[in-house]
Amino acid sequence: MFGPLLVVLVQIQLHLVSALFTVEVLQPRYFAEHGGTVTMGCRFPVHDPFNLTNLSVLWQRKPSQGNEVKEVYKLSKGQEDLRQQHADYQDRARVAPSELKIGLSMLCINNVKIADSGIYVCLVHYEGSDLKYIYLDVKAPYKRIHFQKRKEKTELNLTCQSQGYPLAEVSWQNEESTNLSKFAFTTHQMTEDGLFNITSTLRVKPRNHGNYSCVFWNRELNENTSAHGAVSSLDFANKSNTEKKSLTVMVPICLLLLLVLIIFAFMKLRRKQFTNYYPQKGDRRRRRNKLSRKEDLDLQTKNLNAATIPD
Ligand SMILES: *[C@@H]1O[C@H](CO)[C@@H](O)[C@H](O)[C@H]1NC(C)=O
Ligand SMILES: *[C@@H]1O[C@H](CO)[C@@H](O)[C@H](O)[C@H]1NC(C)=O
Ligand SMILES: *[C@@H]1O[C@H](CO)[C@@H](O)[C@H](O)[C@H]1NC(C)=O
Ligand SMILES: *[C@@H]1O[C@H](CO)[C@@H](O)[C@H](O)[C@H]1NC(C)=O
Ligand SMILES: *[C@@H]1O[C@H](CO)[C@@H](O)[C@H](O)[C@H]1NC(C)=O
Ligand SMILES: *[C@@H]1O[C@H](CO)[C@@H](O)[C@H](O)[C@H]1NC(C)=O
Ligand SMILES: *[C@@H]1O[C@H](CO)[C@@H](O)[C@H](O)[C@H]1NC(C)=O
Ligand SMILES: *[C@@H]1O[C@H](CO)[C@@H](O)[C@H](O)[C@H]1NC(C)=O
Repeated sequence: MFGPLLVVLVQIQLHLVSALFTVEVLQPRYFAEHGGTVTMGCRFPVHDPFNLTNLSVLWQRKPSQGNEVKEVYKLSKGQEDLRQQHADYQDRARVAPSELKIGLSMLCINNVKIADSGIYVCLVHYEGSDLKYIYLDVKAPYKRIHFQKRKEKTELNLTCQSQGYPLAEVSWQNEESTNLSKFAFTTHQMTEDGLFNITSTLRVKPRNHGNYSCVFWNRELNENTSAHGAVSSLDFANKSNTEKKSLTVMVPICLLLLLVLIIFAFMKLRRKQFTNYYPQKGDRRRRRNKLSRKEDLDLQTKNLNAATIPD
């Protein structure tokens, strides 16, 4: 019912209709943060007694960048009707029913996305029909910056990575220089959420110790976020050194393990020899105790005697 109505409303002189029944925005422009919640509202006149079955409310997203009109939320003759709701807004958009009876159509969108930015239409049909436009602006501050140090052959790579919207400018500085940006290499990718994933790398030469920081300047939000880290001689220590260090620990451990293995193998071999001396299956423990060793020796001597003294 709203499709043709909207067209008609736009085509005919709106002010003629609004003279009778006027919808007003609570705010012409709303700002929201990516992942957050936003509630946009418009007001319409109601007179006692309020009759919900006379009320129809529609929220639409105006077409942007060649997209079609998207239905965000619809209440038809007092009944929620989400059959035509666009998939983009599924389970994310609703209108608070309790506020309708005081003449407020409050659209709440949660888990706000960058793509939600744009112009929304608040259309109300009650004792008449009217509509107003509201602008939604979604931003994503570069909140968490991941700072990393990576050792190259001789240099050290400092990396700052963060996600946000719109595109930020990254600059680097330390105590000596306020602008190291020309030594930095910055790239960005678009994430599935429409955010910019920015990675900036600064190559630090050996002996350039100090406190380094990267600054993400979100020009549109006029917001700067930064991360910093100290670079010391330890960071330039060669990896091979640490490998050598670990070697000095690993080698004795390996040798010790080898020794234990050899001893174990040797004992096993000896045990086998004993078994050969005693072919009859006996108590294993007996073989190991001193008495049996002594017997064993006696036996060996006997055998020896037997071998050396001829009959
Ligand atoms: C609701 O609509 C009916 C007819 O459509 C009308 O008679 C009645 O006065 C309306 N009630 C309100 C509160 O507008
Ligand atoms: C509300 O309006 C409907 C028609 O739109 C009418 O049938 C109903 O009786 C009205 N209810 C009250 C309480 O006025
Ligand atoms: C260090 O940074 C340079 C240039 O930004 C890059 O080419 C190189 O792969 C990086 N090295 C490491 C170990 O991240
Ligand atoms: C830092 O220097 C670069 C050029 O090397 C320049 O483009 C950039 O605007 C400078 N940034 C600041 C904050 O001065
Ligand atoms: C952002 O970029 C970094 C490095 O390029 C990558 O490791 C990370 O997975 C990316 N994150 C997303 C969400 O694309
Ligand atoms: C490093 O610099 C940052 C800001 O640039 C500062 O907040 C921090 O205290 C400094 N750290 C050291 C150890 O100097
Ligand atoms: C953020 O940083 C840029 C350049 O580094 C500077 O021009 C701007 O004034 C800063 N803005 C704020 C709010 O600190
Ligand atoms: C680390 O090794 C490189 C060669 O791979 C050498 O040029 C450099 O001087 C070494 N640095 C230190 C601190 O030992």
